[in-house]
Amino acid sequence: MDLVIGPLELSAHVDEALSIQAAAFGLGADEIAVRRQIVLRHMTFPGARALGATTSDGRLVGFVYGMPNDRTHWWSTVVEPYLRAHGNDDWLDGSFVITELHVHPGHQNLGIGRALITTVTDGAAEPRSILSAIDTDSPARALYRSLGYRDLARQVLFPSAPKPYAVMGAPLPLRRRQRT
Ligand SMILES: CC(C)(COP(=O)(O)OP(=O)(O)OC[C@H]1O[C@@H](n2cnc3c(N)ncnc32)[C@H](O)[C@@H]1OP(=O)(O)O)[C@@H](O)C(=O)NCCC(=O)NCCS
Repeated sequence: MDLVIGPLELSAHVDEALSIQAAAFGLGADEIAVRRQIVLRHMTFPGARALGATTSDGRLVGFVYGMPNDRTHWWSTVVEPYLRAHGNDDWLDGSFVITELHVHPGHQNLGIGRALITTVTDGAAEPRSILSAIDTDSPARALYRSLGYRDLARQVLFPSAPKPYAVMGAPLPLRRRQRT
């Protein structure tokens, strides 16, 4: 299938993006309403950038967004003590944070997630990247490891999130897929 990976004006496409996130990540209507406000606020943060994967007939099937980390941002304040406990809190400086990455279930495992995260981090001025992912063996964790992300802290608890997260970090540019 012909797909274009390119800049996405996320504020204008927030509902489409959240419907992908809801399908990929299993969000209910209440959570979507909360996420909607958060995404719109994030898009006003300095350096925030989003990319989308769009089919030839104009459907968004995946998106990623992130921003340079700022220690005053909520996410950073939550993970900071966990990183500090492992001597990894310097990762909060000079890092591009991947805030969300989601591919619609009908289009997963086709290389779209890898292309989105690699392309958005290739455009970052920072020398490294950090993110959080549910602390379990998932396709997301496998993808991040294959890109060079390693665990900086595990069992990280975000207020109101039912499951613990792992915080991962990788040098940029991300590792390219090994050819066999
Ligand atoms: C994680 C996610 C974004 C990956 O996107 P994707 O387009 O499916 O991934 P890709 O096709 O680019 O796959 C890249 C790698 O992911 C891993 N992967 C993808 N699907 C997998 C599966 N079903 N089982 C195990 N690993 C898998 C593999 O390491 C794969 O590498 P390979 O190409 O060398 O085999 C997508 O699966 C998704 O949206 N999942 C649900 C939402 C989510 O968990 N988002 C991340 C929040 S932290």
